[in-house]
Amino acid sequence: MMFLTDTHTHLDFPQFKSDRERVIERATTAGVRVIVDIGTDLASSQAAVALAEAYPQIYAAVGVHPHDAKTLTREMLEELTALAGHPRVVAIGEIGLDFYRDLSPRDKQRQAFQQQLALASEAGKPVVIHDRDAHAEVMATLRRWVEGSHKPSAISYKPVGVLHCFSGDLAMAQEAIELGFYISIAGPVTFKNARCLRELVRQLPLEKLLVETDCPYLAPHPHRGKRNEPAYVKLVAQEVARIKGLSLEEVARITSGNAQALFALKF
Ligand code: NI
Repeated sequence: MMFLTDTHTHLDFPQFKSDRERVIERATTAGVRVIVDIGTDLASSQAAVALAEAYPQIYAAVGVHPHDAKTLTREMLEELTALAGHPRVVAIGEIGLDFYRDLSPRDKQRQAFQQQLALASEAGKPVVIHDRDAHAEVMATLRRWVEGSHKPSAISYKPVGVLHCFSGDLAMAQEAIELGFYISIAGPVTFKNARCLRELVRQLPLEKLLVETDCPYLAPHPHRGKRNEPAYVKLVAQEVARIKGLSLEEVARITSGNAQALFALKF
């Protein structure tokens, strides 16, 4: 029996407005048993929670994306803090830094990132990290956060988060794993030019990997350029399985177990 987990979706986005129900059905048919829908601003976080209330297989993460960091007010932070306590909310995210598109001023991105890391510590929830062209600063910030408030001890190791749609190198991935993070692999691993990412997957332990779609973005081959959806997480897992020389079922089972541990999912 196939048990896939799509650890990063934006099913609440308008791209799914007309056929969300069918998209979710197709995911179930493809063996996707768990979906984590990720907030990008307050409205999207609220919509993610509503989806998680409506569907037993959907869980929510709440947070403000670095693109939207400039919208984060104190009142909004309070609302996010309240949402973080909802029983279907399994993480704070997506949060982080995006120095590629720079849609919010960098200082505002840094402030929103810090504020939401503090929120995660307070709520006792893991974090979903977005990092684009900000590797060194994201890692330094996460190291300070982990060492300051989430220190994993040798006795009670606790996973602290995930680097979503990972785009760094092997050294960065290993540093993140050492800090207690999982590395999430998305559609680009199926792209023709993804030699480095495939090599990274080959070198990292499957016990530290998650799979995701980041739908509606980043559709894997052969759907590249079209709208992505959770059913296609199977194509990502298939590519990971090929690289690792394992069966799709085994990769699905192990990465789902990883997601279950990270997000403290109870079935
Ligand atoms: Ni995303």
